[in-house]
Amino acid sequence: MRLLNLSIGLSWLSQVLFLLPGSPAASQSLSNDSNVFGNPLNFWTKLDGGGWDLTRGVTANAITLPVPRGPITIQPNTTALVIIDMQNYFLHPSLGGDPLGRAIVPTTINAIHAFRAAGMPVLWTNWGLTEFDLIRMPPAFLKGFSSDGTSKTTFGSDMGRIVVPQSNPSISASASTPGPNMTVEVGRLLMRGSWNAQPWGDLLTEQVQGVANGTDFYFNKNRLSGMWGPSTPMQQWLEDHSMTTIFFGGVNIDQCVWGTLLDSYYKGYDVILLDDISATTSPRAATQMVDFNAALNGWRANTTDILEALMGAA
Ligand SMILES: *[C@@H]1O[C@H](CO)[C@@H](O)[C@H](O)[C@H]1NC(C)=O
Ligand SMILES: *[C@@H]1O[C@H](CO)[C@@H](O)[C@H](O)[C@H]1NC(C)=O
Ligand SMILES: *[C@@H]1O[C@H](CO)[C@@H](O)[C@H](O)[C@H]1NC(C)=O
Ligand SMILES: *[C@@H]1O[C@H](CO)[C@@H](O)[C@H](O)[C@H]1NC(C)=O
Ligand SMILES: *[C@@H]1O[C@H](CO)[C@@H](O)[C@H](O)[C@H]1NC(C)=O
Repeated sequence: MRLLNLSIGLSWLSQVLFLLPGSPAASQSLSNDSNVFGNPLNFWTKLDGGGWDLTRGVTANAITLPVPRGPITIQPNTTALVIIDMQNYFLHPSLGGDPLGRAIVPTTINAIHAFRAAGMPVLWTNWGLTEFDLIRMPPAFLKGFSSDGTSKTTFGSDMGRIVVPQSNPSISASASTPGPNMTVEVGRLLMRGSWNAQPWGDLLTEQVQGVANGTDFYFNKNRLSGMWGPSTPMQQWLEDHSMTTIFFGGVNIDQCVWGTLLDSYYKGYDVILLDDISATTSPRAATQMVDFNAALNGWRANTTDILEALMGAA
């Protein structure tokens, strides 16, 4: 880690030297090759016959993915999959969660397994508020997350209890669910460590085991975007690990996923939106806006487009 930080420091220094006007290196700061976009330390290369090389010249173990308007060639040790807000609060049926969000869970798990198999980290970024976050939370956010129009039901409020089948706490108990029930303390709305802030269903096991196994990393966030402001825990990790390229999935595609993708794009990361592991409760037009712009900012693909290539690289 120390060595890596040193090399980041050096590359930052050489980048500054490259860009200083009048420095001997300044004339080389942008390539004369019309297929190269960027400076010698941070560039894409347009490939003959279409497609893009995003590896910044580190081609060992590179993986070529057949995405629409691609293909794209990625460097697995600088690429991550980011899963956003697939939490009980947004997905559990007893909390009014989104059935479309629940429907993408099997596909999301397949994608997680494929990224891990190809040696790429899986990053989870979820709402996970602290008392300090509550004090600093702007009124607009507090209003937006109130369920009854008063400040009593917003972030940090106690969500009470629900009854779920003991055999499957990710669904609601009903007359037709088999076996005994159990009562769950839902916890305070989107507070760190609460039940409602945990990943929903089988994603919880994936996250807990993935983090324990060292393939996955978990980052709390306190806004829709996991990349807002000067920095966030996830951004710090991405910088520390020299990441360049990020794939995105989760809920809602037009809110937290879009916010995180857009901030990542603004901060200079390569962004790829994965359609079939993203969902929303918003009107169709909201997804159309995201689809249109995500394709301009980077690429859009379905995980089904890339699974075979990822598994082939495993
Ligand atoms: C790019 O072209 C300019 C003008 O011909 C030249 O001065 C410069 O050295 C070239 N840069 C590289 C990296 O080849
Ligand atoms: C990524 O892997 C390549 C070759 O496998 C290596 O040269 C490079 O230093 C690695 N980069 C990082 C950031 O670990
Ligand atoms: C579980 O809860 C549901 C919904 O309240 C109820 O219909 C069902 O009878 C309960 N099952 C048991 C075994 O108590
Ligand atoms: C974690 O590692 C164990 C033991 O190698 C393995 O059985 C399990 O599938 C792994 N789980 C995840 C989520 O990677
Ligand atoms: C993903 O698949 C859906 C359903 O087949 C399709 O409508 C959508 O256009 C696909 N997305 C991309 C980026 O190809």
